[in-house]
Amino acid sequence: MFLNTEKIKKEVKNFYERFPYPHTDYTIREHFFNTIHDKLMKNILSLSDLKDNSLNGLRVLDAGCGSGEKAIYCALNGSIVDAVDISCNSLNVARKKASMLGVSSINFSVADLTEKSFFEHRRNVYDLVLCIGVLHHIPDYQKALSNLTEVLKPQGTVVIGVYNSFGRFFTNLEKLYLRLRFFNSEERILAYLKRKHKRRYRFLIEVDRLLHPYELAFTFSSLKHLLELHGLKVHKWWPGDVNMLPGQLKMLLKGTSFMLVSAKRQNAVLQHP
Ligand SMILES: C[S@@+](CC[C@H](N)C(=O)[O-])C[C@H]1O[C@@H](n2cnc3c(N)ncnc32)[C@H](O)[C@@H]1O
Repeated sequence: MFLNTEKIKKEVKNFYERFPYPHTDYTIREHFFNTIHDKLMKNILSLSDLKDNSLNGLRVLDAGCGSGEKAIYCALNGSIVDAVDISCNSLNVARKKASMLGVSSINFSVADLTEKSFFEHRRNVYDLVLCIGVLHHIPDYQKALSNLTEVLKPQGTVVIGVYNSFGRFFTNLEKLYLRLRFFNSEERILAYLKRKHKRRYRFLIEVDRLLHPYELAFTFSSLKHLLELHGLKVHKWWPGDVNMLPGQLKMLLKGTSFMLVSAKRQNAVLQHP
């Protein structure tokens, strides 16, 4: 099937200019460490065999950093962090959040993960690359993954979070239902979600979940295959026993739409022109 990747990229960028993700509003450090993202960060670190105190001094890239929480978390724990995103407004929110939390050391830049410009001068630089919730919004995800692999140090770790095809099944039905009910009108769906979710934080989560212009989903085996193609060896999965049928059924029935995987860079790296 022919995909107009540039058009999709523009739509995705515009979406995140309007709705930077995530939408939490932290004004003080204590709040920051008490959120769902703190738990997610702990999962991400344990997949990489890291703890808060082992982040100190590591070179970290947060690829598709959104409003910057993972980047800030790593910087607060002593990592040297670069954080990139295609959305200028998301980066503005991230910079503001970092400054509210007293973090001035993160190097935030606008970059498209599918382009070479940011990556070509940073080969073999990072100990840890995070790419959470991003690849499934990029039609050229292979190009993005190839860039991410190149900037990893040999034996460096990448942690990737993407939608799982099984876990996403009921959300996709919900999306279809909303589109049919509101005659495919974004305006009407937004108004409906606003009425339903009074708290802005929850409303915006639902917008990201149900109104995104473009998303893909992976199975465990398709993601594993993709990583191997790029010279990455799978290290650990979240949630646990995922490659077996019972694990996949559990994701379907519980609607666990997200999966995380950590992988280490081996020698051969697939090149994309
Ligand atoms: C769901 S948000 C995830 C944000 C962050 N990684 C997190 O876990 O909270 C997806 C982010 O990917 C960014 N993004 C999408 N396509 C991109 C691309 N081609 N290059 C760089 N960033 C991209 C979006 O702008 C958005 O901020």
